[in-house]
Amino acid sequence: MKKDLNRRHFLAASAAAPVAVAAVPAIASASETTLQQAFEGRQSTRRFGPAPVPDDQILRVLWAANGVNRPDSGGRTVPSWRTAYDTQVYLATAEGVFLHVPESNTLEQVTQDDIRAIASDSAFVARAPALIVYVSDGARLREAAEGADDQALVIGAHVNAALSAQNVYLACVAEGLGTCLIGGAANREAIAQALSLPEGSIVPYIQPVGTPR
Ligand SMILES: Cc1cc2nc3c(=O)[nH]c(=O)nc-3n(C[C@H](O)[C@H](O)[C@H](O)COP(=O)(O)O)c2cc1C
Repeated sequence: MKKDLNRRHFLAASAAAPVAVAAVPAIASASETTLQQAFEGRQSTRRFGPAPVPDDQILRVLWAANGVNRPDSGGRTVPSWRTAYDTQVYLATAEGVFLHVPESNTLEQVTQDDIRAIASDSAFVARAPALIVYVSDGARLREAAEGADDQALVIGAHVNAALSAQNVYLACVAEGLGTCLIGGAANREAIAQALSLPEGSIVPYIQPVGTPR
């Protein structure tokens, strides 16, 4: 997976100028799953096979999570409280952590560290080949929410990420993948530290993805 992603979809993590690679939005799913079938198949999966999730599949899942579906306006596949678009979607794999870029539906490597094991005390999270990490950009949220109190900001961050998470659940059904939203079992401080998140960032949820076993 690493070679393929590095070559085609990712920006290199090196301190030198990032290597631009071709964008492969790949938003059209090959799946013929209907919305009704996706609803019927939605469930939480906690046992994953070890195989990496293929690039095209994970990019379709990430597009469902936070992709641009209206290029003219920059509108997303998910609604966003106060149009904050504060949700940042990271993907953690054995190869490192990558930030999803909604506009191009590509991934940008932010570290080569494998953070899956520290992201949660639940063993199945570390065993999942891919782990989505939702981060709310606190500064962006606060600016968009204009005077909202801290509680409203925390709720907004969680609602926005949860909407992405439900899209991921449905996209996973269409892709033959499994997933599970993780709230209580997320090690938020360890994740914030590992990703050097700025003060005020919120980590609402994490969400492992892989082939159900
Ligand atoms: C906000 C939220 C947080 C959750 N946190 C966890 C968690 O920390 N660990 C876990 O195994 N499942 C977690 N879940 C998944 C629920 O346990 C699961 O959705 C529930 O048992 C219903 O099962 P189903 O999703 O298969 O229908 C969470 C779900 C939600 C909505």
